[in-house]
Amino acid sequence: MAKRRFAQVGVGGRSWMYSTAIADTYADACELVGICDNNPGRLQLRLDWAKSKDQDVVGYSDDQFEQMIAERKPDVVVVTTKDCYHDKYIIRAMELGCDVVTEKPMTTDEKKCQAIIDTQRRTGKQCLVTFNYRYSPPRTQVKDILMSGAIGDVLSVDFHWMLDTSHGADYFRRWHGEKENSGGLMVHKSTHHFDLVNWWLSSIPEAVYASGHRKFYTPHQADRYGLTNRADRCLNCPESAKCPFFLDLAGNERLKEMYLDNEEYDGYHRDQCVFGERLNIEDSMNVVVDYASGAKMAYSLNAFMPWEGYMVMFNGTKGRLEHYMRESVYISGDGSVPGEMLAEGTTITVFPHFAAPYSVEVWEGKGGHGGGDILLLEDVLLTEKREDKYKRAADHRSGAYSILTGVAANKSMATGNRIEIDSLVQNIGIPEYAPMPSPDEPIALPESRGQRMRHSQVTQMQKDAKDKA
Ligand SMILES: NC(=O)c1ccc[n+]([C@@H]2O[C@H](COP(=O)([O-])OP(=O)(O)OC[C@H]3O[C@@H](n4cnc5c(N)ncnc54)[C@H](O)[C@@H]3O)[C@@H](O)[C@H]2O)c1
Repeated sequence: MAKRRFAQVGVGGRSWMYSTAIADTYADACELVGICDNNPGRLQLRLDWAKSKDQDVVGYSDDQFEQMIAERKPDVVVVTTKDCYHDKYIIRAMELGCDVVTEKPMTTDEKKCQAIIDTQRRTGKQCLVTFNYRYSPPRTQVKDILMSGAIGDVLSVDFHWMLDTSHGADYFRRWHGEKENSGGLMVHKSTHHFDLVNWWLSSIPEAVYASGHRKFYTPHQADRYGLTNRADRCLNCPESAKCPFFLDLAGNERLKEMYLDNEEYDGYHRDQCVFGERLNIEDSMNVVVDYASGAKMAYSLNAFMPWEGYMVMFNGTKGRLEHYMRESVYISGDGSVPGEMLAEGTTITVFPHFAAPYSVEVWEGKGGHGGGDILLLEDVLLTEKREDKYKRAADHRSGAYSILTGVAANKSMATGNRIEIDSLVQNIGIPEYAPMPSPDEPIALPESRGQRMRHSQVTQMQKDAKDKA
């Protein structure tokens, strides 16, 4: 069978995962035929690597994208550029007859989103969005428990995500710190979290209210630390010896060869000051979301926390599910595994009504992003699809609904208004979701008072179990 031909646009930190999977892991079924980037230095770095993997690859600059499609005839274009350019390449690739695999966020605002939705409808091409978080085994397990009906139908969700002073701070050093590039953390980062909730609930958001600010990554906070003699970037900063946010770009081989050595081509500094004046994104955000299913969510994101991970609680008609995850400390692109799940900080507990709570043995996840990266790649790169009862493969519809909660949150923070999702983008369609428990099913109560556990008994059982442990 002929190999599936891939072209990649944007060959920075994240794109390595796809290049390696195409040219190495799935080399029997896939081949890399073209790469495109506006930075000739990074382009050459990847070309050299591809040649070492025996890939017949040609490199193109950003203004030669169409030429790449015409000459190299890829079946699929993988989009891993800066977020604000995703739409340009997604749309042109579909118009030129290619399917698309794009990194999240699918795009950064509602106008670009509408253009992608319209183009996909017009061309009929496939546009997959790589929501690796869905594939992380503990998060799939949460979906499995919700589908089983163990807590009935979900009426509300409490979801709180912590980004630490390592990974969280890194958003403020890079292009992500300007909303015009990334849509801010509500779009760039929370697209993952909003997608998880849409998928966990098998529903779509209807209305959003949000409030947020940036009070930590500010010149004032730096002054309070006594870091008063700051430069625009770490490389030549007189405060570097004192600053806990110092990034040693020259001292990390991977970061150096990817970014520092290629600054001459685009002037991009990967180590800008996290307290810089240029920043215009929030570092603390609170959001309330109404879903079509009737569920409501209270969500927060804080980017200056002492630990990284999250807690999510689902409140259902038959009980409550609590899931906690702690993640490893890392810096994007520095060679370490990104967002690895820490088993000792990861738990799932079910609290049924009128009965004792129980902990569930957590499905193990190994590798990047809670174990999601490896499983995702098979789904998006190979043509043969496996049956998936959780329906984790996500397309443009899920891509749209996940960003629109964040886009609406940005608008709400700017205006103080509650924003209706259907005022932003039309004709998205409903994503394909797995069936969930029906809100009309009868709920069986314990037959007698004797079988029904009272709160005091449940508390005692919990205490006994804890003492035993
Ligand atoms: N799913 C995940 O867990 C995850 C993790 C990291 C990054 N990402 C996503 O991957 C994408 C890339 O992020 P990254 O960390 O690799 O960033 P990066 O800055 O390391 O790489 C971006 C690349 O795009 C290139 N580029 C910028 N503008 C371009 C244009 N107009 N045309 C062509 N190339 C252009 C840059 O030169 C660079 O090589 C982002 O959309 C990000 O949101 C996803």
